[in-house]
Amino acid sequence: MRFYGIIATMIKEQIQAMLFEALTKLGYPTETIQIDQPTQMEFGDYSSNIAMQLAKALKKNPLEIAKQIAERIGTNENVESVTVLPPGFINFKLSARVLRNELHTILTKKEAYGTKNVSNQRHAVVEYSSPNIAKPFTIGHLRSTIIGNAIANLLEATGWDIKRDNHVGDWGTQFGKQIYAIEHWGNLEELEKSDRPVKLLVELYVKFHQEAELHPEIEDEARAYFKKLENGDAEMRNMWQKCIEWSWKEFDSLYQRLGVHFTENAGRGYGESFFEDKMAAVIQELESKNLLKESQGAKLVFFENDNPPPLMILKKDGATLYATRDLATDKFRLETYGSDIKIINEVGAEQALYFQQLFKTEELLGWIKPGQRVHIKHGLYRFKDQKMSTRKGNTIWLEDVLDEAVKRAYALRQHENEFDGPEVVTHNVKISPAARKHNLGFATPLNNSEKIAIGAIKWNDLKKTSAQDVVFDWDEILNMQGNSGPYLQYAYVRCRSIIQKMAEVQSGTISPEAVFDESEQRLMRTLLHYPEVVTKAAESYAPHVVCTYLFELAQTFNLFYQNSPILKAEPQKQSLRLALTEATSHILKNGLYLLGIETVEKM
Ligand code: ARG
Repeated sequence: MRFYGIIATMIKEQIQAMLFEALTKLGYPTETIQIDQPTQMEFGDYSSNIAMQLAKALKKNPLEIAKQIAERIGTNENVESVTVLPPGFINFKLSARVLRNELHTILTKKEAYGTKNVSNQRHAVVEYSSPNIAKPFTIGHLRSTIIGNAIANLLEATGWDIKRDNHVGDWGTQFGKQIYAIEHWGNLEELEKSDRPVKLLVELYVKFHQEAELHPEIEDEARAYFKKLENGDAEMRNMWQKCIEWSWKEFDSLYQRLGVHFTENAGRGYGESFFEDKMAAVIQELESKNLLKESQGAKLVFFENDNPPPLMILKKDGATLYATRDLATDKFRLETYGSDIKIINEVGAEQALYFQQLFKTEELLGWIKPGQRVHIKHGLYRFKDQKMSTRKGNTIWLEDVLDEAVKRAYALRQHENEFDGPEVVTHNVKISPAARKHNLGFATPLNNSEKIAIGAIKWNDLKKTSAQDVVFDWDEILNMQGNSGPYLQYAYVRCRSIIQKMAEVQSGTISPEAVFDESEQRLMRTLLHYPEVVTKAAESYAPHVVCTYLFELAQTFNLFYQNSPILKAEPQKQSLRLALTEATSHILKNGLYLLGIETVEKM
């Protein structure tokens, strides 16, 4: 494996090797030696708790062991100091030579810094978004889209070959009701012409349920409709296909706005209906492996001690379920992409138990090894009120949320000269149609307001562990002073404007004698951890690790900018500071890009 961030990684490995050697010489057991970052930069750049581990195993004093090891190691041209901290940490501080070299590497590799240059030996399907046809694209689907896309990016950046799939819900008994409603109360022409056909379809679906309360018999008619659809009735198939096309009209525009794409099935992903004819083989395999048990006419897979509870595969009328299609989906993936492919689903935490049942079933079938199936859970979005429900019609439409975000981001931009002031967010701005046309046209490439708005929503979604619930609060999302997308984008803008102002100064050349003052050091010591952050985020499927790091970097840069004037500095300092600014801009851009957030040049 070769890293672009070659120096820091080599140093990290070198520190590992130095520790290994010291342990051997001292006659201590040498297991895996983990290297972390100390809690405070003052303590050093890297840290090891190996002495504490040894002390526990050998029942000795950790501080004594740490001192012994530190003495053995000593310093060298790359490691400036090795210090010991109670209760037994060994801390390593890198030398100015390493800082200079790493800075040079960032400037050379630019936006490729931090990504791994390995051939794609590891492969995975990352499935995300997965909205339902004729249903609103919910905030839950938005979370899945944003988080799943970031995870796919992170894995790709660390050398994985990634299939991006979208398990669209385009099959199920609800299509009987939907088609019934379209045929009885729908206006095809209007549906055909509409920009937001899903809204109309949902209204029709809601109407079905209202009518069914008065006339329960239409439920049976809808069931008959679905049976006809299943049996390939041409008219039913045609209406169903239309529902798919109308829905994709909206999905396509959302994905374009969000800058998200899929690689499978010509970019649409394999929806549930693709597996309609692939379920029989799964049922057969389950039967032949004796995994299906009958209970009250239905067929289920039971697990040891009923933990988790049984998973239904066939209803008593012989109908298949969501689970049956998921099994067929994974069988298809394992057969198509290779039996060792990792399969990652980004789906709401409310389906956690279901995925547990699914994975257990796949293990019982002998399809997968432990760890080969991963469910990345996301928590709910909390607007002031409750979770959204399609049936009752109190839906929050994603397009409206995005439009509102753009409107507010535009308001933010009108205050561009006040960005360093205390409060710049203005709400409820009225924008003239002309201004809207100029600044808010949703053309590609996206204009700045759109990039800031979408970036703000994405950052809000990614900055915490995905399993946590997200509170949707405009003030927080667009807060220029806080942990927000605009704050990060603005740090990048600031870097770029400094670089542009100083166009005549050469930043690429770093003098071999260059010394780093306090705030320059702080910035450089933050920058050099970026490659490890990307690796850690990818390994733990945790985009928030990148957010935490980037927010810290932006804050560190802002302090540096306050403390280390560039314009007035003497030439050598000037070029070092400019180099640091440029390096910061590369890492901000690279990191945001991995999160799916575009940078802007002006705000
Ligand atoms: N369409 C489903 C929903 O909206 C999510 C699908 C998740 N993926 C899966 N393989 N089951 O709830």
